Amino acid sequence: MRFRPDQSLADAHAELTRLLVEAGIDAPQRDARFLLQGLLKIGGALLISGGTRLLGADAARVEDAARRRMAHEPVSRILGQRAFYGREFIVTPDVLDPRPDTEAVVELAMDLLKARGLLERPFSIADIGTGSGVLMVTLLAELPQAQGVATDLSEAALSVARRNAEIHGVTDRVRFVATSSLEGCQGPFDLVVSNPPYISTEEIGGLERAVRDYDPLLALDGGGDGLDVYRKIARDSASLIRPLLVVLEVGATQAGQVERLFTDVGARPVGQRKDLGGHIRAVALEIHP
Ligand SMILES: C[S@@+](CC[C@H](N)C(=O)[O-])C[C@H]1O[C@@H](n2cnc3c(N)ncnc32)[C@H](O)[C@@H]1O
Repeated sequence: MRFRPDQSLADAHAELTRLLVEAGIDAPQRDARFLLQGLLKIGGALLISGGTRLLGADAARVEDAARRRMAHEPVSRILGQRAFYGREFIVTPDVLDPRPDTEAVVELAMDLLKARGLLERPFSIADIGTGSGVLMVTLLAELPQAQGVATDLSEAALSVARRNAEIHGVTDRVRFVATSSLEGCQGPFDLVVSNPPYISTEEIGGLERAVRDYDPLLALDGGGDGLDVYRKIARDSASLIRPLLVVLEVGATQAGQVERLFTDVGARPVGQRKDLGGHIRAVALEIHP
């Protein structure tokens, strides 16, 4: 055992950082802090001040977390939770680990709803490929007058989304449906959001370990050119009652291609949002009557 019950928090932090450096982890000190804070439910100040608290019975959990992070398992998966748009979400091996970049979809959707004076109105949302439910649950929590339908091909992912809806008190305003895209969902919807799988099949093998080994393949693989699910969403959206706003996450180089798939079915691009790396990460399209 590298971690012992009689070890101080400051020592444990130093030891965990050292192990993560050895394992080639990118931000070892930050990850060691997040892991200890998450596992022991303590503030960062206690780690830095080196107070008198010892690891005690938590030593074994820290040992296990160290082993998992050294194998490049993401911190959020070890802790079983991830912050998104200011709220904590449960994540399990059955769902994509939600990324901060996906907040661009929420931001773009909220901006467009505000510009159209729709924030205060009763509102209907569809979230395709909901995974942990971050998009749908966040939008419902931000828009108390909204309700919606969240779909996923994975029943296991839908169970996680249901738990997150419960935690954030929006269960009575969302229906979870196991289906592909919006098959069998009637609407009408005012807004469709989605962060579909968009990596091309060929690129999956070259992804970094933290993604390839821990995110479900169904959440990543977008087919031969990465655009298969966008094609289906474009077809399904075009058959819905209009007007309809569609806000989608896209891969770093896909904005133009995805917009074309939608303009081909009569939609008009109405907005884009960049991520922190400067890539267009979210696109918005409107389909008119
Ligand atoms: C990239 S993940 C996004 C999860 C979540 N929305 C997020 O942003 O963290 C894509 C999700 O789409 C689901 N999925 C894949 N193909 C689908 C399809 N044809 N219809 C519905 N869901 C699909 C996967 O199971 C996965 O949960």
